[in-house]
This record gives sequence, C-alpha cells and structure tokens, in this order.
Amino acid sequence: MSTTTHASGILDDKLLFMDMPTDPPGDTRNPYADYVGARRDHPVQIEQGRFGPGGPAVAFVYRHEDVVAVLHDHDVFSSRALHDFMSPFMGDYVLVGMDEPAHARYRNLLAPSMRPRLLARWEDTLIGRVADDLIDGIVARGRGDLVADFNFSYPARIIARIIGVPQDNYIQFQQWAVDITAGVGDPVAGIASAQALRAYLAPFVAARRVQPEDDLISELVRAEIEGDQLNDEEIYSFLLLLLPAGIETTYRSIGNLLFNLLSHPDQLDAVRNDRTLVAKAIDENLRIDSPIQTPPRLAARDTEIRGVHIPAGTIVMPLIGSANHDPAFNDDPDRFDISRPVVRHITFGNGVHTCMGLHLAKLETRIALNKLLDRLPGLRFDHDRVRELDAHMRGKAFRSPTALPVLWDI
Ligand code: HEM
Repeated sequence: MSTTTHASGILDDKLLFMDMPTDPPGDTRNPYADYVGARRDHPVQIEQGRFGPGGPAVAFVYRHEDVVAVLHDHDVFSSRALHDFMSPFMGDYVLVGMDEPAHARYRNLLAPSMRPRLLARWEDTLIGRVADDLIDGIVARGRGDLVADFNFSYPARIIARIIGVPQDNYIQFQQWAVDITAGVGDPVAGIASAQALRAYLAPFVAARRVQPEDDLISELVRAEIEGDQLNDEEIYSFLLLLLPAGIETTYRSIGNLLFNLLSHPDQLDAVRNDRTLVAKAIDENLRIDSPIQTPPRLAARDTEIRGVHIPAGTIVMPLIGSANHDPAFNDDPDRFDISRPVVRHITFGNGVHTCMGLHLAKLETRIALNKLLDRLPGLRFDHDRVRELDAHMRGKAFRSPTALPVLWDI
C-alpha cells in the first residue's frame, strides 16, 4: 500500500486497511451480525491453522462475562502474546505485553506521567489549538474527508508535543508513527522507523535528565518510587508504545464517532444543539464501535472456558466488540443510541492492563467534536462522495471508517 500525503499531514493507507493475522480475509463491514449467533450457540470457538501448519490454535471468546474473566485472569491468560508481536518495534519493555509482577512495577512508575490533572493542562494550550489549526486548513473549502484532513494528524500532533518533540519535526514524527503503528502489516518499515525514532529521541532523553522541561520525557526521567527509577530502555519502550496506543486508537475512535453521528442526523443535531450530550455520544460510540476490538492473550497453561478445552500456547482472543454488543449488558445492543440511560462497555479493557490513556482519549475526542461542530456549521455527509468512495466502517480487530466525506456551510 502507498503512503498518501495530505495538506494537513500524512495518512497511510496501510493503517486504514490493517488487519490482525487472526482476521478473516477481506473487508469486514459488520462483524456484529456474526457475533449474535456465536454468543448464543458457540460462545468459545477454537480454530487451527490461522498461523499456518503447526502454528498455535486460536480461541475466540464472545460473551461479555467470559471476556471480562479472561482479561482479569492474567495468570492463566498472559499478555506475552502482545510482547511477542510488539517487541521487535518497541524493545524489551512493552508495558501492554508484560505480566505481573514486572508489569505492576513498571506501570506504577509510568502512571504519574499520565495522570488526568497533568494532562488537563494541555486542554487549551495544546489540544484545542491543534484542532483549530487543522480546521483552519480546511474551513474555507466547505467540503473534505475528515479521515484524511483531521483524524490522523490530530492525535499524532498532540502526542508529539506531549512527549516533547519540537514542532518542526511533526511531519517526520507522523511518518514514523504511521510505520510503527502499521508494523503488523509491514514489519520491515515498522522496525526501520522504530529504530530511527529511537535514535531521534535519545538526545532528548539525555537532555531532560540534565534539564527537565514541561513534557512527558521529563516526567519519566523524574519518576521514582522508593529509589526505583526508569532506565533509558524503559523510557524508549514506553515512548514507542504511545504511538500505536495513543494515536491509532484515538484516530480510529474519532472517525467512528463522526461516522456514527453523521449516519444518524437526528442524534447529530441533538448533540450540536446540546453539548451536554457530547459525553454520552462519546461513550455510546466507544461501546458500539470499539476501535481495538480484541487484545490478544496467550494461554499460559491448559485451561477451559465454558467447558471448551484451551491447550497451553493457544492465542486467546477476548472479543471486546462482541462483549459490548452482548444483550446481557445493553438492551438492543446493535442500535447506536446516545440516549441510553447507562452505557456499559469495556472498550478501554479491564483488569491490570486497563488503558492508561483513557482520560486523554476522552479529552481529545470531546475537544475534537466540539471544535468541528462549532467551526463547520451544518456538518453533514456528502452523500454523492460517500457513494462514489463507498465510504463505510471496516475491520474486525481494528475498526474505523474508510473515509468521511462531508460538507458544511460556508
Ligand atoms: C479511544 C482510544 C483508546 C482506546 C479504545 C484504548 C484501548 C486500550 C485497551 C483495550 C487497552 C488494554 C489492552 C490489553 O488489555 O491488552 C489499552 C491499554 C493501554 N493504553 Fe489505551 N486506548 C485508547 C487511547 C489511549 C491513549 C490516548 C493512550 C496514551 C496516550 C493510551 C495508552 C495506553 C497504554 C499505555 C496502555 C497499556 C496499559 C497497560 O498495559 O498497563 N491509550 N488501551
């Protein structure tokens, strides 16, 4: 796939069309229809052959109760599965791929750098400005594709500044971020970019050790619990993890939110006219279309779920996307409805690995939606372009719209 450069930044088609090795081939538009029968009749399914002859079996887990149980039982369902596939890009300390007790020690040292109060200071000084800047570039046009014009550059530029990358280097940073994030589909480019970014960050880490500034690298070099501190390798691994963890997820979920609201103009109008509904819209969108639908695990020993034997070494896929649509948890779960009395989802995971960036993700999404609604009046789908481009939601493991062709009043 090619790299497409847009006026406002870089978007790589590799990201849009990225799948996991466990995904079915082709363009999955609506995985939820299949989940209905799976949850009811075969809530745990084992498949052989996804990773070739002699490769590990894959177990898919569909019901909410079982998905939560897998995510909680970290002794049996190890996160090593993620380490194995992310460490070529991120080094030895992949937080999301670690098991206890090493994970707890590392997470405790990292957590203060992501605390909500610290991140809140970026609301006006950074996040709102990035949104305004991207909208400035398109507002006079009256039309655009928000996936290309807004959604990717927005979290990438925010993370770059929070980390402490100088603004002049954003475009290069975004290109590295795309390659690393899409590394599952193109490991050669992913590893090369991870090495380049690591080399680029090294002098910043060294400089902040001498003279801290107002960025995340400075928080990390200062972190200390009873004399225990992060070494350079641990800092690099975390910074590299923040690219897929902090960019891809938010870029996809803002796209999903816009797609779902634009597809339900009555609900979009309700939000446009009453911004107290923004938080509900964000949560309902996270529930109905989780951008990351399944954090893989590895069975550390023989076990069973609902009577299905899972041999040690099986890759276990707890399907968050199916759990969020389980009727045991939300009525009429396949309907996008921002007026649900209570929105229940596990889109940020569950248990010890629960997302560390969920406050930032929600903050970024809230600001993006408010700015787009404020500054692009009458925002609506450009239906001719939607048909022409066949714009749709796609993906099973990673989920987001292929395009968001829109019009607004100028
Ligand atoms: C809508 C946006 C987001 C979604 C849906 C999301 C989802 C998730 C999920 C499901 C996990 C758990 C993975 C597992 O159990 O294996 C996770 C972990 C994590 N997320 Fe997020 N995330 C989002 C945004 C962010 C952002 C903006 C950041 C940081 C800037 C971030 C940083 C992390 C980190 C560091 C972890 C690892 C936590 C650990 O292993 O202890 N995420 N995220």
